[in-house]
Amino acid sequence: MLRLLHIIASPRGEESRTLQISDVFLSAFLQKFPDWIVDELNLGQETLPSLSMKSVSGKYVLLQGKEIFGSLRETWGEIIQQIERFKSADFFLISTPMWNFSIPYMLKHYIDIIVQPRYLFRYREDGTVEGLVKDKKMVIITSRGGSYGGKMQNFDHQEPYLRTIFGFIGITDLSVFRAEPMDMGEELQKEKIEEAKEKVRAFVASLNA
Ligand SMILES: Cc1cc2nc3c(=O)[nH]c(=O)nc-3n(C[C@H](O)[C@H](O)[C@H](O)COP(=O)(O)O)c2cc1C
Repeated sequence: MLRLLHIIASPRGEESRTLQISDVFLSAFLQKFPDWIVDELNLGQETLPSLSMKSVSGKYVLLQGKEIFGSLRETWGEIIQQIERFKSADFFLISTPMWNFSIPYMLKHYIDIIVQPRYLFRYREDGTVEGLVKDKKMVIITSRGGSYGGKMQNFDHQEPYLRTIFGFIGITDLSVFRAEPMDMGEELQKEKIEEAKEKVRAFVASLNA
């Protein structure tokens, strides 16, 4: 069974503007590909393992090319579970608002958990990086209070960061849909949400999953 992992980084549930667009994406996707399973990972509800002195040391063990074993392996149980859940997905959908010109902290926490050497990337002998998540598509749906075209473009640390980190682990087929501005009047908000919905519908129509 093919699986789409939907990573939700807005804690606003039914109030979320981002999720209104993602819902349209998902229903169009499932209508086109009825055999797919959607695995929903709601980061506002998920308890992610914290990165303590001990658990973070696992990253350094892996960076040295060694295996994690013994009591560290136990500490790493939940981290490995999250990595495996991510890696076993065939398609990724991330629904995230912009928070303070970047991503909500729960999404950053999730990225800090799963982006591990030997699992999601590796260094080749020549020092270059090889992303280990290959041939998989990602869609990012976002909404922002303001608008980030023109002069405000330099304030956008959200989209460039997401493209960089997911490109680093090998996801280069990445499409971003933005609804903005959301917090500059209700009319504009509705109009921009509708525009984004149209764009995701057209995108799904063109998809060969
Ligand atoms: C903690 C917090 C920080 C925010 N920071 C920004 C920001 O830096 N730039 C911006 O344009 N909007 C910002 N916003 C507004 C949200 O991006 C906007 O309202 C978005 O549509 C919320 O999406 P949601 O309804 O899916 O949660 C922020 C909202 C919150 C709650």
